[in-house]
Amino acid sequence: MAPCGMMRGQPRETEPRMFDSLESLPPDPILGVTAAFRRDEFPHKVDLGVGVYRDQAGNTPVPTAVHEAEQLLIAGQSTKTYVGPHGNAEFNERIAELALGPLARSLRPRISSIQTVGGCGALRLGAELIRAADAEAVIHVSTPTWANHEPLVGSSGLELQRYPYYDPTTRGVDFARMSERLAQLPAGAVVLLQACCHNPTGADLAPDQWRSVADIVERRGLLPFVDLAYQGLGSDLESDAGGLRGLAERVPEMLLAISCSKNFGMYRERVGALVVLGSSPAAAAAVATHQARTARRMYSMPPDHGAAVVARVLGDPRLRASWVEELGAMAARINSLRELLANSLAACRPDRDFSWIVRHRGMFSLLPLPEAALATLRERHHVYSLSDGRINVAGISVDNVERVADAVASLLH
Ligand code: LMR
Repeated sequence: MAPCGMMRGQPRETEPRMFDSLESLPPDPILGVTAAFRRDEFPHKVDLGVGVYRDQAGNTPVPTAVHEAEQLLIAGQSTKTYVGPHGNAEFNERIAELALGPLARSLRPRISSIQTVGGCGALRLGAELIRAADAEAVIHVSTPTWANHEPLVGSSGLELQRYPYYDPTTRGVDFARMSERLAQLPAGAVVLLQACCHNPTGADLAPDQWRSVADIVERRGLLPFVDLAYQGLGSDLESDAGGLRGLAERVPEMLLAISCSKNFGMYRERVGALVVLGSSPAAAAAVATHQARTARRMYSMPPDHGAAVVARVLGDPRLRASWVEELGAMAARINSLRELLANSLAACRPDRDFSWIVRHRGMFSLLPLPEAALATLRERHHVYSLSDGRINVAGISVDNVERVADAVASLLH
């Protein structure tokens, strides 16, 4: 019984309190920028933070095909019973086909796919799977890489190391240093690669560089773990997957973490997949059991809706064509915004070269500004980038580009 005068449920002063030992954490490097942007009351603020596609009006639209598939799905749904840890089988098959193209058919017996909670879930589940197979495995990530890569895959307990990737002088890939490092890795080392639209740099490997990476991976016996979060938003669905397909053709084993957040505009629905290529059908079958067990232990099963919608879009020729067209328009818009930004910056600073902005692919590029200048950009000009200088080019519009370019140019040395 609680002592006289003390409310039930109120801890005694002397009791150790579980959460008193926790200190507040700093804001997330990406989501924290969204929160700061929302707090800013300036009417002409510009959000170049979180990686979401935006149209000219600044909205993040639901593609027409997705919207239509949702209506059809809801109208025809007769049950909401469990789907199981692997999720939607049709989605798993179609999403692997989308990523692997014609190769998917021949590789099929060696593939095990599982629907995941977004691309993040795929990355984490992939790391857990690697750890189940080899707790001593080391995952190598690019320098720099997406701010959540290391927390996500590192939370599995696996060791992480870095390989050189971006050259801030050329604003392209430092391929000589990257390949030199990869060529020194021991057999079995896991290399996390981004298939296209490199986050945060926008600098992608060229097709011949992908071939060289495949040579090294094959020669050294490395395990590629490919993050495919922006298929279709760099150039087109086929070219953006060209590098990973070249790898899949040659390697015995590979992991592919797929996100449908950006290309299907399904961000909050958390749709993704982990596609694993095993060295044999028997290996893939064993992988499938581990995928299911890992999911079951972490979150049991993925949510149904988003994956069912994606399966519907990909399986219906009319919806698929509409989605491909809309996705193409998104990529074209991003690439035209790159030109617009580069031209506007060049108009402000004709002494500087901004052609790298046009060479980059996808939503991101890094502004060549130190952290203090980026803080000024945010505080004085209300233009929000990440603290490493990453901007989401899709947040630019014809209405704000001159203001953004003026502000950035005023901070360049
Ligand atoms: C980003 O990089 O901004 C997106 O992938 C969103 C996220 O979850 O970080």
